[in-house]
Order: sequence, then structure tokens, then C-alpha cells
Amino acid sequence: MQFFLDTADVRLVEHWEKAGLVQGVTTNPKLLSDASTNPIETLRALAKLTPGPVFAQVTESSIEGMVNQAQKLTEIAENIVVKVPATFEGLMAARKLHQLNILCNATQLFEVAQLIGFCRIPTAYASVIIARSEDYGANSRGTVRVARKIVDQLNSTTQLIFASIRSAAQLALCVMNNPHAVTVPPMTWEKIYGHPTTRAEVERMLSAWSNKPMSPLTMTDAHPSR
Ligand code: E4P
Repeated sequence: MQFFLDTADVRLVEHWEKAGLVQGVTTNPKLLSDASTNPIETLRALAKLTPGPVFAQVTESSIEGMVNQAQKLTEIAENIVVKVPATFEGLMAARKLHQLNILCNATQLFEVAQLIGFCRIPTAYASVIIARSEDYGANSRGTVRVARKIVDQLNSTTQLIFASIRSAAQLALCVMNNPHAVTVPPMTWEKIYGHPTTRAEVERMLSAWSNKPMSPLTMTDAHPSR
């Protein structure tokens, strides 16, 4: 299973890459518009930071417009993978891009049944949206289980990505349901490794430790007879 970072922030990619949690980067038009550099420069910088895929979403809405824009996006760097929306136009664009040997990620899948057309192409990836679907009342437990079953049932080579993961519980649920990848926003990793109870418990133990009249623990302290 691969771990992608859902961001267009170069510094955050560098930060979480050091923790071993970045095997690729997923961007979207909103994330790219939040970045300080222009989108092409940002994508170029991100593509240099990881040998894995860097995903860039088309912003055109016609089939032809998506295909033309996808071709331009792949000229930015070798590891750019194009994202197309899971609309009818996106499906048709994905079919054309497959004929042109351009790797594609179907995104904004809010219904697992949207996987079917893309798995049949097959696109290289398909991204099922978790947290934002819950905002609209979806049950993520069913979504993640059925999504993987659909890909397997269709004997598809499409790699399933679970995206839009805001909480530790959503991440754990996604990982245990065996996608090919998850894409995690930096904020979610920050919440997980900045867990307030973990920090409070460490503080409580260190406070008890500092009240003892002993030197910091060393091997000699731990094994006085040696
Ligand atoms: C995944 O690749 C997208 O970036 C994802 O849909 C973003 O989800 P969000 O809008 O819930 O953050």
C-alpha cells in the first residue's frame, strides 16, 4: 500500500517525506490555487521532490478540453498523472487518454458505482472520496469495503485510492480495507502525531521522573552490576 500526501505545499511534502509518509503527492485545483507559486511551477517543484506520481487535475469541462489539457499537464514532468472527474465527460476523456497512453486518475468518486466505467478502461488509478462523502451522509464502512470488491470483481488493474481523509479513525478504516493507496492531508498526520493525550501522558510521566533524585537513565543505571 502506498501513502500519498494530499497537498500542493512543497514545504509540507519535504516535512512528511522525512517521516517516510510520502510516496506520491495528490493535488487538486483548490490546493494549487492556495499555493504561493503559479500552478505549473508548483507542480514542477512537487514532481522533483518525489519519484512517485504527482497528480494534477484538469480544469476544463469538455471532453476535448480535458484531453488537450491533460496532454499539456504531462509535459510538466515525467511523473505527472492526470486527474479527471468521475463525470460522463471525465469518463470519455479517460478513454481517449488511455488510447494516448496517458496515465489517468478518476477523481471525485462519491458513489462506488462510478468505479465501474473507469475500472473497465482501466485507468491507472481511481480515487474514492471518504470524509467529504460523510459530510453528505455516506457510510464510509460500506464504501471502503464495496470499493475494493468492485475493483477485484472486475479483475481491473485500476489502483484504488482512498482520498479525503480527515481523521485517524477514517485513516485506520481505509488502511484496513486494503486499497492500493491512501492520500492523507498533512493536517491529518499532524492530528495523529500531535495527539493531545499522547503528549499529556508523556508530560505526566516526565514530571514524575523529574521529581526523583536520580540522574538521567543510562545503561550503567539500568544494570548496576555490570
Ligand atoms: C484527492 O486527491 C483530493 O485532493 C481530495 O478530494 C480532497 O478532498 P477534500 O476536498 O475533502 O480535502
